[in-house]
Amino acid sequence: MRMTVIGTGYLGATHAACMAELGHEVLGVDVDEAKIASLKDSKVPFFEPGLPEVLERNLDNGRLNFTTDYAEAAAFAQVHFLGVGTPQQKGTYAADLTYVRQVVEDLVPMLEGEHIIFGKSTVPVGTAEQLQELADSLVKPGSHVEIAWNPEFLREGYAVKDTITPDRIVVGVREGATAEAIAREVYSTAIAADTPFLVTDLATAELVKVSANAFLATKISFINAVAEICEQTGADVVALADAIGHDDRIGRKFLGAGLGFGGGCLPKDIRAFMARAGELGADQALTFLREVDSINMRRRDRVVQLAKEMCGGSLLGKRITVLGAAFKPNSDDVRDSPALSVAGSLSLQGAAVSVYDPEAMDNARRVFPTLSYASSTKEALIDAHLVVLATEWQEFRDLDPQVAGGVVEKRAIIDGRNVLDVAKWKAAGWEMEALGRNL
Ligand code: UDX
Repeated sequence: MRMTVIGTGYLGATHAACMAELGHEVLGVDVDEAKIASLKDSKVPFFEPGLPEVLERNLDNGRLNFTTDYAEAAAFAQVHFLGVGTPQQKGTYAADLTYVRQVVEDLVPMLEGEHIIFGKSTVPVGTAEQLQELADSLVKPGSHVEIAWNPEFLREGYAVKDTITPDRIVVGVREGATAEAIAREVYSTAIAADTPFLVTDLATAELVKVSANAFLATKISFINAVAEICEQTGADVVALADAIGHDDRIGRKFLGAGLGFGGGCLPKDIRAFMARAGELGADQALTFLREVDSINMRRRDRVVQLAKEMCGGSLLGKRITVLGAAFKPNSDDVRDSPALSVAGSLSLQGAAVSVYDPEAMDNARRVFPTLSYASSTKEALIDAHLVVLATEWQEFRDLDPQVAGGVVEKRAIIDGRNVLDVAKWKAAGWEMEALGRNL
């Protein structure tokens, strides 16, 4: 099938390349000329394992192409996926729908005949209906544009796998819409592999996405709230998570206590969800998400407090190594990164902070130019009074405490992600603290 994918950021670039991988003919569209030039040149402008290979293969076989020209997109296909960003609006919690609306305003007047736009961006409930009205007001006489919603659940670091073999496919449609049949064709490979294919109304599809992310955020903050209690009582949150996670109804995934969630999705999505509930007069329904957000932010403060305690009450003049800058491993994304937020606070309180991340250094430098950055883990560790493991890259998990101990000034570490072997580090003479554990 021929299709366009409009917006070639994280979501769109991945969707475009993976749809081509599945055999479709795909045109990726973006207003950002530099991004399009890079993609055309087979370069993925962000770190995502496996995606460069998929991109290159499908550019080479001719199934994938990119353009900045909406007229070309309008003529190329009758099926369009919309994957532009919906960032948090400055000064409010609400989602900024400027880019989503702009695509409809730019594309729809050029369309001839029958077209379907599948929204993939995460949007406040009710957006698809508004976009349908907007499209109806802009479409050429005699032509028709149907808006459907097909939320995306991909995780950074697993984006290719999540797109090609998703857990489920959700398509929100209006009554009598043709989008369901088209979506079945688009996703025929996954459907043939028995992937659940769920057809809902538009509002439900929009809500599925934000509810899923709100649930994941809540699960993380739940265990982090319990971690606070563990810290007061001498209990161990990791053993506790293992124990409750054995209950199938609860499950061990997303019970990783530590520095909490960050990134471009969970924080902004729970805030936008609350803002939308307020607009709908149902704010009470989601006030608990405010707590989810604060529990999450408190974990960052806790690490700074632990750092102070371990440095004898003051950070002034202390050299602290922060291992990790990305919001999670296998990503170079530093949006709302707990690691960088901790590094920034430590630095503001007078510590000399040295940050290292295997992939996110360029992005980190752009966002926090005042921090100092090392070119390797070893360099970051030199003469440190304290090490903070903030993002659980495999390289940091694999650190040898004896080797690291030979480089630092003082063997002291905070495991901000609860991934290190406590016995091994303690045996190597390290003073160690973690979140939700009394070591
Ligand atoms: C998330 C959703 O998982 C995905 O379905 C959606 O499409 C986009 O948002 P992503 O932001 O890529 O994906 O990251 P995810 O793997 O969900 O992790 C989010 C954050 O939670 C990270 O900062 C991670 O470190 C943190 N986390 C995750 C924990 O603190 N503990 C856990 O147990 C799991």
